[in-house]
Amino acid sequence: MIIQNNVPGKAYNTFGLNSQLSKLIVLDDRKDLAYLRPYLQEHPSWILGGGSNILIEDNLNKPVVRVNLKGIQVIKDNEDHVLVSVMAGENWHELVLWSLGQDYGGLENLSLIPGRCGAAPMQNIGAYGIELKDVLHTVHAYHIEQGLELSFHNQECGLGYRTSNFKTKWKGQYLITEIVLRLTKIGHHVINTSYGAIEKELAHKGITEPTIKDVSNVVCEIRKRKLPDPEIIGNAGSFFKNPIIERKQLVALQEKNKEVPFYEVDSDNIKIPAAWLIDQCGWKGKVVGGTGTHKNQPLVLVNHGTATGSEIYALSEEIKVSVASRFGIELEREVNVWSKQ
Ligand code: EPU
Repeated sequence: MIIQNNVPGKAYNTFGLNSQLSKLIVLDDRKDLAYLRPYLQEHPSWILGGGSNILIEDNLNKPVVRVNLKGIQVIKDNEDHVLVSVMAGENWHELVLWSLGQDYGGLENLSLIPGRCGAAPMQNIGAYGIELKDVLHTVHAYHIEQGLELSFHNQECGLGYRTSNFKTKWKGQYLITEIVLRLTKIGHHVINTSYGAIEKELAHKGITEPTIKDVSNVVCEIRKRKLPDPEIIGNAGSFFKNPIIERKQLVALQEKNKEVPFYEVDSDNIKIPAAWLIDQCGWKGKVVGGTGTHKNQPLVLVNHGTATGSEIYALSEEIKVSVASRFGIELEREVNVWSKQ
């Protein structure tokens, strides 16, 4: 365990914001949780993975615990699948590359998602037709108040569209230490190309029977084309969730906007791409001081280099207001806002 005071925050969030962290605790040994517990009970802290889904609004006076636990291990090997234990501090995309190297399937559509594995269940990461929910077996998490490590099966985690019990009703109670994934073995892979862009890209390459590596390559290409690389331009991926509205609301929306794109969620509910709503309000590629929206994907707010957290937050408020007043739809932030309290 390493403890540092007054640390520049830039390296700890993919927005590249230089807010100061008053105390940074780097947890690299599970055993240290027992020593850390009394401190965490007294000082509620922010738990940090890769910093790819947070907006640090100000200099932080609450301690930050960076989870650096490492290790990837096959814990069960059956004829058709494996169970893989992954410690929370492992980088997500490196895990995907490792799984492809072993020819284990299930993570290929989730290629190139920034962040660390412990954060994956928090918002049930998802992309290109797959969510963590589809491959997650168990989450191991340390209950800070009780000082116990507990295990939760997939169904107990309350996983939904960019949400989980860890993010909602259990907020702040747990530190995720390890996840266990159920991955397929060769001959049992389930290739998912249902997301239009993947199908189109594979057809363009003349690939008719894609392998899991082909799917991963195509997903990486699409992401690189559409989404800004946080190493080059600070961002935290989609800033808002795609809103879910009732079918009758869609009918009203279509009266004024015939071309509104939508996806069916169930018989009563419809998902509208937030990118489209924001785009229609004229925000695409807009530069506002040091911040703005990305030129290819307006759902992604960016730091052009000099932005502060408060500036990005203010822009997100402005976007919310303009979408609400034009379409009557309330956008919900996907990114977690860390502010002084
Ligand atoms: N669109 C526009 N204008 C644009 C871009 C997109 O109108 O400039 C509309 C189009 O109708 C397009 C639709 O938005 O078809 C959807 O866009 P896209 O395929 O880029 O996906 P998204 O719904 O904006 C979601 C996830 C992404 C994930 C992609 C691919 C959320 C909040 N975001 O984005 O996740 O990579 O689908 O599956 O669900 C993230 O969570 O950080 C993230 C990047």
